[in-house]
Amino acid sequence: MAWKSAMTESAFLDVQDLHVAYGPIKAVRGCSLTVAEGETVAIVGANGAGKSTLLRAVCNLIPRASGKVFFAGSPTAVIPTHVLARRDGMLFVPEDRAVLRTLTVLENLRLSHDARPLGRPFEKATEEVFGHFPRLQERADQPAGSLSGGEQQMLTLARALVSPPRILLLDEPSLGLSPRLVREVYAILRDFRKRGMTMLLVEQNVRAALRFAHRAYVLRQGTIVQQGTGEALLADSGLFRQYLGVH
Ligand SMILES: Nc1ncnc2c1ncn2[C@@H]1O[C@H](COP(=O)(O)OP(=O)(O)OP(=O)(O)O)[C@@H](O)[C@H]1O
Ligand SMILES: [Mg+2]
Repeated sequence: MAWKSAMTESAFLDVQDLHVAYGPIKAVRGCSLTVAEGETVAIVGANGAGKSTLLRAVCNLIPRASGKVFFAGSPTAVIPTHVLARRDGMLFVPEDRAVLRTLTVLENLRLSHDARPLGRPFEKATEEVFGHFPRLQERADQPAGSLSGGEQQMLTLARALVSPPRILLLDEPSLGLSPRLVREVYAILRDFRKRGMTMLLVEQNVRAALRFAHRAYVLRQGTIVQQGTGEALLADSGLFRQYLGVH
């Protein structure tokens, strides 16, 4: 088929010339990026660069003005977000923590488990998840809204692990967390990476993201201005001054 020839070889997620606008505001202007299976890719950029918009448009939470997105070789254009999540395994975790506050920790995990059934019994899945998040096990019967911000972020990641997605789209996993919790969250993400989970994350915490990701793209005012390995971008001090507003 025609679209196959356009797909970058080995791209698991292939975003081509994506444009997204909010009325007159052009938030994403012609972004193209790829993520290979098993790869972790970061999109870094300052406030308002268009990071969340890009991620939301990739999973069809907001409409695209133009451009194409292919996931595992198929175009995603008309597939609703919940179908992408449930059927195709593309899970988006928003920056405002995806927990249901009035439900308990266990009920939150149950919902994620049942939303994407992988044939693994819930008890087995939670056993594994609690191995990673002992603090959540202690709080299994507590409403999620009573957890601290850091614990809610842990629950967000635990929800992703209970039915592992084929690709995890993460918006600012370290937002609002103390330095210690940022380290904890990234230790968990590294573990996900070791298991071969494919991840695309956006971050304002540029250094944490570049240290973590295999590859990264720098977004500035809706446009990708640079890309490279996390290591190479970390070593580029000019980049920080020029595009990221940090030193
Ligand atoms: N719902 C909306 N309506 C209108 N404009 C919006 C809307 N959401 C975002 N924008 C604008 O689009 C641009 C990109 O915003 P976006 O939230 O994608 O940036 P971001 O890189 O995620 O920023 P941050 O690091 O602060 O989360 C900004 O100029 C923002 O003001
Ligand atoms: Mg954002």
